[in-house]
Amino acid sequence: MKSYDLVTPAGTSDLLPPEVKRLRAAENALCTLFEAHGFSEIATTELEFMDVFNLKSRHFPSEGLYKAIDDKGRLLALRPDSTMPIARLAASRLRAYSSLKLYYNQKVYRNSPGARRRNDELRQMGVELIGEQAGINSDLETAKLALDIFGLLPEGTKCILEIGDIGITKMLLELLPVSVEIKEQLRNAVETKNSPELDEILKGIDCDEGLKKQLLKLPTLYGNESSFEKAFSIFTDNAVLGRITKLHEFYQKLVSLNDRKNTYITVDFGCANKMDYYTGTIIRGYIENAGEAVINGGRYDNLISEFDSSLNKPAIGFAVNMDIFAANLQAEKISNTPHKLRIALTKGRLEKKAIELFEEIGFDCTEVHEKGRRLILNVKSSDLSFEVVLAKPNDVITYVESGVCDLGIVGKDTILEDGGKFFEVLDLGFGRCRFAVAGKKGLKTSTAIKTIATKYPKVARSFYDGRGADIDIVKIEGSVELAPLLGLSDAIVDIVETGSTLVENGLEVYEDIVNLSARLIANRVSLKMYRNDIRKLFKDIKSKLKD
Ligand code: PRP
Repeated sequence: MKSYDLVTPAGTSDLLPPEVKRLRAAENALCTLFEAHGFSEIATTELEFMDVFNLKSRHFPSEGLYKAIDDKGRLLALRPDSTMPIARLAASRLRAYSSLKLYYNQKVYRNSPGARRRNDELRQMGVELIGEQAGINSDLETAKLALDIFGLLPEGTKCILEIGDIGITKMLLELLPVSVEIKEQLRNAVETKNSPELDEILKGIDCDEGLKKQLLKLPTLYGNESSFEKAFSIFTDNAVLGRITKLHEFYQKLVSLNDRKNTYITVDFGCANKMDYYTGTIIRGYIENAGEAVINGGRYDNLISEFDSSLNKPAIGFAVNMDIFAANLQAEKISNTPHKLRIALTKGRLEKKAIELFEEIGFDCTEVHEKGRRLILNVKSSDLSFEVVLAKPNDVITYVESGVCDLGIVGKDTILEDGGKFFEVLDLGFGRCRFAVAGKKGLKTSTAIKTIATKYPKVARSFYDGRGADIDIVKIEGSVELAPLLGLSDAIVDIVETGSTLVENGLEVYEDIVNLSARLIANRVSLKMYRNDIRKLFKDIKSKLKD
């Protein structure tokens, strides 16, 4: 039997003395800060009953939990989050306290087998302000504390403290006459800044066109003071405008409190986190060159009353990703050379089309044309230059997700099959094709499909699962049309562009699944960190797409 006694499970890692030293320095810095602000440390059990994480708005996807079974056969889970266990305590042993200011330093566990870079054991420190003290003024206290955390970083570290209000998206979605499932799809499109998808779903909804226009603005409405001016001119609902007014006051107070060079306060009107327990203010912190947020949190006024409906305890808090924070706390040299955008292009057909597009908007792409075997190439116009990286489709997503590339151009087929965490900002209109089910000509009605051959097993699985059909899927790496011809499968799920491969091999489309095209994707921190350069590029690209 194979033995695993020398390795750690996927997504976990040991820390050696220098790494522990670095982590402890970061923990001590935050402990000192939190204690100075009157927070007391709390530690919750690592193992909880599943119910803590899967009731009402506390729903944490079951597949993301590490589970165990107790001696009575009840389901337990390693905590995937610290806020829910702390809310449980606030509703039980700490219920007598009208106000609580707590901080924690503990790990959370998330089972993430599909992730490109697994991190199943996350080290987090965070704060929770609960009860009377968590009134509306505490938004400012909490956000100021996040600013103080940036204040611990070496001078010159570029940081962003972003605020938002999840209530804006929630309220606008409530005005739509659609099912909870469609609202969830729309929320997801707003959260991932997926304007093409948002547009597509809204087209199919029969409702006020003005409301659709407002929803369509959410993904792109982020930035500084000028975004508030835009927001006041876009939204019409009084309750939404009321929230924007409060957010604006909050923003202005934070700007006046921020005395740190290289730290910027921004707003994002398209905050629509998946964590259902958030009810209002959202707080996020970004550090340059970290591919994901270092601080994440917000207001959750109803979570504690879900544990005990007789309680009314508003609350707000955030968690700090300790791996990112510790790595930046002791960063030795902060570069002050301006950042050069880096764009990952999918090699081959999409690369050619992308370069054509860049040339049309005034970029000199000579280095790409004369690349030889080089993989990182410079592209420049009169006022912007960036690096182009050439990569395989799935790697484009990997580079963008991790933040080593700011933007990427990749086919929607790869996005649907491989997923990932990024913003999907533009449909570039080229590389148009579709996913379809196809098989031998003339057999469409007589073939009971049981076996599908495909290069896209997740797409095929999700398509047939959606119909409740029990299908065997065979993964094929290329020329998938061979499978039904050789008798390996009844049909294929594949890309159809011109249709000539099917025709020349005596096959035909049985059914279309979804239209595809090339997409521009962005790293979730880069989009905010290099807002001006990226906006300029988007504007030029969009103007060409309209032509
Ligand atoms: C894709 C796809 C089809 C073909 C469809 O294959 O898997 O085989 O293109 O194009 P058409 O409708 O214009 O004929 P690709 O060229 O990427 O090669 P592969 O099958 O070897 O992966």
